[in-house]
Amino acid sequence: MLKSKSILIGVGGGIAAYKVCEVVSSLFQSGAEVRVILTETAQRFIKPLTVATLSRHQAYTDKDFWQATHSRPLHIALGEEADLFLIAPLTANTLGKLAHGLADNLLTNTVLASRCPILLAPAMNTEMWEQPIIQRNWEKLKTDPRYHGVGPGSGLLACDRIGSGRMAEPKEIINKLNSLAYTQGKRDLKGKRILITGGGTREHLDPVRFLGNPSTGKMGLALAQAASDRGGMVTFIHGAIASELLPISPDYKIIPVVTAEEMKAAVMTHSEQSDIIIMSAAVADVKPSDYANYKLPKKELPTNLKLETVVDILSKLGNAKKPHQILIGFAAQTGDIVNPALDKLKRKNLDIIVTNPIDKKGAGFGTNTNQAILIDNQGKQKIVDSCSKLELSHQLLDFIVA
Ligand code: CTP
Repeated sequence: MLKSKSILIGVGGGIAAYKVCEVVSSLFQSGAEVRVILTETAQRFIKPLTVATLSRHQAYTDKDFWQATHSRPLHIALGEEADLFLIAPLTANTLGKLAHGLADNLLTNTVLASRCPILLAPAMNTEMWEQPIIQRNWEKLKTDPRYHGVGPGSGLLACDRIGSGRMAEPKEIINKLNSLAYTQGKRDLKGKRILITGGGTREHLDPVRFLGNPSTGKMGLALAQAASDRGGMVTFIHGAIASELLPISPDYKIIPVVTAEEMKAAVMTHSEQSDIIIMSAAVADVKPSDYANYKLPKKELPTNLKLETVVDILSKLGNAKKPHQILIGFAAQTGDIVNPALDKLKRKNLDIIVTNPIDKKGAGFGTNTNQAILIDNQGKQKIVDSCSKLELSHQLLDFIVA
């Protein structure tokens, strides 16, 4: 989603500036046009040469701002070119200036001379971040629809403290930029309560053996992020998630479960007040009839496993659906993906079904990309060609909103 986008990055003076180098490099590799502004204090931590090398473009500093040239003023040119603006690390000083509309260097002047969405990634020592004046500035800034926040999280800080104020990780920042590139900052799900399930459920035979599936939770996490980035109040109920995708973003409510029965209980508790429910979880269809609460020795393992079906959560939701609710199911199919999905759409009383092939390269379980056909209960269909799971999520949300 970032290919050919013009991304402007303003780097503030904090030790987290070193992490921005990774962001610059990733964005360049995604095909984005990256321009970087370094404040005076940012240059104490990283050099213009570092970001210029990574972005394959000159880095800009206040020295360039005050240079006499015949071309247009630098802040105007940079501001007009940008599709997205990232400020990372956002220091207490720059935050204060932005919250009060002040501009005294290239970075802050470019903010005022641009119109694109701005993503802010604050980084501060915990004492600084928790100061009431800093929190007031932060909240004030976020009332302006132009500004979007990422982090800060908690963790080990450069001052040897463990606390809040740690800049969001590069991966999180890149994810947010991807969302912003798609939405251009629209918050069309503001005020909507959205329940999303993801990951795979597991049905244990004993404490170490289970029936499960290869779901990693990538699709569910992408949906939760996209819905939350568009202003929705998201509750994410999830089964097993691949460890490299953890920890989950603190932007929304997270409820971990293991079995289908636990997922049903959590879903039923939260479904009534939800406006949109998206069941993307890969729920195991059967469970062993017997469970041993100790590790079964090999000789006690059954050679024929007696199974029973688990509850169909989506059908239960379909039966209890309220007039204001939109219910979306997934169908992971092989072969014909449309007819079985149409059957599920009807049988489970859904509004929309997302049917996706799991026998195609780059689609289905564990992949970063997916493809699907979105079908609504009026017969409208939308084909989504292979794209990132985040983009598929946004396309689905557009389909829901429409
Ligand atoms: N689902 C559910 N509870 C189950 C099984 C599935 O809520 N016990 C949901 C899934 O989250 C998905 C949808 O139902 O959104 C379709 O899942 P799928 O397994 O394809 O549906 P089935 O009705 O079990 O169809 P099939 O006969 O093809 O297995």
